[in-house]
Amino acid sequence: MRVLGIETTCDETAAAVVEWGRDGTRRILSNRIRSQIMEHTPFGGVVPEIAARAHVEILDGMIRDAVNEAGVKFSELDGIAAAAGPGLIGGVLVGLTTGKALALALGKPFLAINHLEGHALTPRLTDGIGFPYMLLLASGGHTQLLGVEDVGTYRRIGTTLDDAIGEAFDKVAKMLSLGFPGGPAVERAAETGNPLRFSLPRPMLGKPEPDFSLSGLKTAVRLAAEAIQPLKPRDIADLCASFQAAIVDCVVDRTRIGIRVFRRDIGSPTALVIAGGVGANRAIRQALQRSATESGLRLIIPPAALCTDNAAMIAWAGLERLKRGQSDGLDFAARPRWPLDEARARPGARA
Ligand code: KG4
Ligand code: ZN
Repeated sequence: MRVLGIETTCDETAAAVVEWGRDGTRRILSNRIRSQIMEHTPFGGVVPEIAARAHVEILDGMIRDAVNEAGVKFSELDGIAAAAGPGLIGGVLVGLTTGKALALALGKPFLAINHLEGHALTPRLTDGIGFPYMLLLASGGHTQLLGVEDVGTYRRIGTTLDDAIGEAFDKVAKMLSLGFPGGPAVERAAETGNPLRFSLPRPMLGKPEPDFSLSGLKTAVRLAAEAIQPLKPRDIADLCASFQAAIVDCVVDRTRIGIRVFRRDIGSPTALVIAGGVGANRAIRQALQRSATESGLRLIIPPAALCTDNAAMIAWAGLERLKRGQSDGLDFAARPRWPLDEARARPGARA
């Protein structure tokens, strides 16, 4: 089975073809992506209107290239999957309508995919793991600890009460004039910094519910920075290192509690998986590797290109659903907000 995936929920335009063989082999035949970072950089963040226009301009060419690169004809696809949310509504509509139009024209099943489900199922594409597993999804827009029990069955174990982890990195970077996106810039600056210079709060540490709260930490960084103006490069490095150390402590503690909740409520996880752009952070990866080992769990971090937003994960989620005999109607509405644990109640879903 081969499915074309389309992803336009944020600032990446992407199209991919993924194949699932009868013998269980999983192959990414093509995985095209174009980031709009250059378009948004002058504004210090993603501008929804600019994002939607950029998707419109390049999506059709990108789909053609993805199908060509895969070496298949449109008629040889078994389904068309498009991310239907959550995300910026203008962009979602571009990908969703394009996907529906293609499915209608080709007479193929259409699959409306929850973008978060794409992230959640990625380790099955990359590592073929079985259910259930524990997922830490940490990007610019989302921070969730999820129990992935089956396709369509996701239990939210923890979430952020305010900022997403990537968002906190982005805001701290902006505060310190390090540019956008902030995660990589903060990580780089932290490399030469002293993590002990500023004593920053570790919100929620030790709390029995595995939730995150990061806005207090972000405010503490701002106050610490304001107190030592003007900032020298050393100050910025120390602030970044201290901030990153605080985040690492929070992530490790919250994930540890999350694994405990998973074992109590779901059972024994097959693995701990990190997905989302924050998974690129080396300090976080190393710390989670230690806690996974302590908990006797295998840690899986999909390759960076499949951790951040991409269309192969949308195609893969489409394959998982198609294989279960599911598809969606062409009246499936875009969902700018679409919590993953609601995925079971899919309006308009068939079978
Ligand atoms: O998954 P992603 O590419 O896009 C979405 O947000 O959906 O994640 C991007 C986020 C940004 O907030 C970025 O600052 C953060 O991931 N990020 C990082 C690192 N690389 C990217 N955060 C911390 N350390 C990094 N090395
Ligand atoms: Zn994402």
